[in-house]
Amino acid sequence: MSLMIGGLIGPSVTHAKTVNQKPCDIYAAWNTPCVAAHSTVRSLYANYSGPLYQLKRASDGAVRNIGVLADGYANAATQDAFCAGTTCVITKIYDQSPKHNDLTISLGGRYKGTGSDGSDLGAVADALPITAGGHQVYGVSISPGMGYRNNRTSGVAVRGKPEGMYMVSSGTHFNSGCCFDYGNAETSGMDTGAGHMDAVNVTKDLSWVDCRNAPGLGVQADLENGLFHWNKRSCHPATNVIGAPPFLSAWLKNNGQTSFVLKWADARSGKLNTIYAGVLPAGYAPMHQEGAIILGIGGDNSHASAGSFFEGAMTAGFPTDSADNAVQSSIVAVGYGARTGLSGVLTPGAEISLRATTACCTGDYVRNQNGAAMITPITSNSAEQDKGDATWIIRHGLADNACVSFESRNNPGAFLQLQNSVLRVQPFDGTTQSRSDATFCTQVGKNGRGSSFNLVNDPKKYIRHYYGKVYAANDGGGKNSWDTTAHWIDDVSFIVGPPWAP
Ligand code: AHR
Repeated sequence: MSLMIGGLIGPSVTHAKTVNQKPCDIYAAWNTPCVAAHSTVRSLYANYSGPLYQLKRASDGAVRNIGVLADGYANAATQDAFCAGTTCVITKIYDQSPKHNDLTISLGGRYKGTGSDGSDLGAVADALPITAGGHQVYGVSISPGMGYRNNRTSGVAVRGKPEGMYMVSSGTHFNSGCCFDYGNAETSGMDTGAGHMDAVNVTKDLSWVDCRNAPGLGVQADLENGLFHWNKRSCHPATNVIGAPPFLSAWLKNNGQTSFVLKWADARSGKLNTIYAGVLPAGYAPMHQEGAIILGIGGDNSHASAGSFFEGAMTAGFPTDSADNAVQSSIVAVGYGARTGLSGVLTPGAEISLRATTACCTGDYVRNQNGAAMITPITSNSAEQDKGDATWIIRHGLADNACVSFESRNNPGAFLQLQNSVLRVQPFDGTTQSRSDATFCTQVGKNGRGSSFNLVNDPKKYIRHYYGKVYAANDGGGKNSWDTTAHWIDDVSFIVGPPWAP
């Protein structure tokens, strides 16, 4: 058995021509052309000049395509102008390949979403600001309930045909919910059995008992009814070495008949690491792919996952290792990075801490504690879990761009939000109510120190700590004990500082 299908054929262009090649030029040169090429960040062909993605804005329902600049990176300034003063969701991610396998918000499947007619939700367009190629652009931030799909594709592998795929994702933004996938899935949105999926998956996989102690995430193959790290129904030791690169490239290729390969790499540096190259699990050979494409969900439209997506492609045919290596070099050349200078400031994308200023509690920080919002002491000696729980990622206000929302560092997709009069840290469910309950407008701290934050839809209510818990409180006159005027100006003033989580 050989894993080198297509691997003995050299690139069909000269080296001189390959220098400026992008991922799908590289795969084409190695006779495994892309049949899907998706990115909100950049073109995946040197000569692609079409749209990358489509937005829909909340204020008037208008849609707008976002295209590329002359150097192939997304023209994100168009997005900023179009979405100014309102919010936008990503409604379509265009396929740059000639197959036109565009991804749209999933219409649901075995599991329905909370959108209209059971569809999933679209990703918030400005939730993931990054730097790529020296430009300020946006990735796709998937929270539970969001997902994209195309059930009627062209050219994608079916019924045991060979294929390959990769995605640039995140090693810090993930969860253990099913299933942060990119790749081949069922056309019905239903679980139709072993081998009917072939998608690369990035998650903290809790499905195998021996994976539960792994420190971080893994890169797996979702082959349906199982996330496979290798041909066994158990955790692969290589899962334990991935660490937490902020930008992670994850790779799967499958010859459709006997074998599959999993690799990963830091998307900012370094070479590909092979996790597994060997036979398919029992019951999965040959494969029975159906050819739909999914992003951020499982084959049956399970949508409990969280993750980040920056670019990804699928090929017809089993790519060579040389092609994969060249594509990884193209990814590294992007220079994926966070927006610069984003620590301890109230700028979307920044990570921060919020320290109390009341005399009782100046060593206490606003934190997530199992879904409740609390203040507790945090020091450099605190446990990593506590430090992450006391770290917040600033997002554009989910209901108002001019304000901010606080996403939990340890619980991606969960936001500080009002629920039954108290503040809690709960998944953003995409509803209008959830947006406004999670949006706070910033002003100078009421006691002259730091900042205070009022609810966008109830400007008299401010984030306040009171006896260790965190509320949205009036300055007197409210019906609750936490609305008392005593210590109010101190209790609603917080120092925005550097994040506790590394
Ligand atoms: O294989 C894991 C998941 O199981 C699939 O993505 C989904 O279709 C099923 O629930």
